[in-house]
Amino acid sequence: MARQIVLTGVKPTGMPHMGNWVGALRPTVELSQADDQLGYFFIADYHALTGLREGKQLKQFSYSVAATWIALGLDPAKSVLYRQSDIPEVFELSWVLACFSPKGLMNRAHAYKAQVQKNQEAGETDLDAGVNMGVYTYPILMAADILLMGTNLVPVGSDQQQHVEIARDLAQYFNRQYQREIFTLPEALVEESTAVLPGIDGRKMSKSYNNHIPIFEAPERVRKLIMRIQTDSSLPGEPKDPESSTVFQLYRVLASPSETEAMKRAYAEGIAWKDAKDALYDRFQETFAEPTARYKELMANPQELERIFSEGRDRAGQAARKIMSKVRRAIGTA
Ligand code: ADP
Ligand code: TRP
Repeated sequence: MARQIVLTGVKPTGMPHMGNWVGALRPTVELSQADDQLGYFFIADYHALTGLREGKQLKQFSYSVAATWIALGLDPAKSVLYRQSDIPEVFELSWVLACFSPKGLMNRAHAYKAQVQKNQEAGETDLDAGVNMGVYTYPILMAADILLMGTNLVPVGSDQQQHVEIARDLAQYFNRQYQREIFTLPEALVEESTAVLPGIDGRKMSKSYNNHIPIFEAPERVRKLIMRIQTDSSLPGEPKDPESSTVFQLYRVLASPSETEAMKRAYAEGIAWKDAKDALYDRFQETFAEPTARYKELMANPQELERIFSEGRDRAGQAARKIMSKVRRAIGTA
């Protein structure tokens, strides 16, 4: 049987934090190591352009996504790692799919609706304020990313599930129109069990709340952030509830099941917050010290990253051209 094609993209918009790691990076790297699947992992730089207008930054963040994946164990020789903007067929297919997208489908898309809701809440009279056509047609570009590689499975966070369903709808419209199975119908793979990781103030960890702990960070800064994690006022010796403790939630995703059990007992026995935080810091360093060194090495060597991108461009380009030529034949432009 042919290997399943697994594909996912990440927008290059900043440095990765523990929330990204638990919710997206770690699962992606694990998937990339499975032998019965071929992974396509790409940097969605043209999706980032909907909001990021600093050329130098976009380029640097693109390197950063690639270096992050590799530092955490994704093997660019086994998986296909590439930059969306390196594959011109993505943008060609995007136009073709746009001609199959009912406008109403875009009106209902998550990224666009979120902006409209924000405008509503801010009392804006123009509900489309701040919406460029890139934001509006975002799901079409995403559908092109997915369909162009013959993707079976798309691992994404729950906020992206609807966009994958749109890709599937568009694939069906197209196949039906031309009476052949040109596009594989993709399915979203949403890891429901991945809990939302809290940040140092207890809210969802997010760059937009500035409550995040970056995974490739200087040790002194990590220690400071961990020491700032909010706790209740219970004293050393007083039993503590692990489930409501951010320190414990963060410890748990880094520790083995037996370490986690031991820590639960320590909470029941009244571990001091300072000691719980020290244990978290130690586990953090054990997990991220080596990847941080690899990440830094890669970021200091952009030629190597460019070499990896150019290999990815060749491999992803091959797959893309195959499907795009079928599309062109069907629609009558080839
Ligand atoms: P941020 O909120 O910091 O801007 P993004 O929206 O860029 O993060 O998140 C990218 C991916 O990282 C998401 O698809 C999601 O799966 C994952 N992620 C982000 N924050 C968390 C979190 N606090 N807990 C679990 N997963 C998260
Ligand atoms: N829209 C995704 C996000 O914001 C990134 C993305 C772009 C993507 N194209 C994709 C994800 C294709 C999966 C498949 O996270």
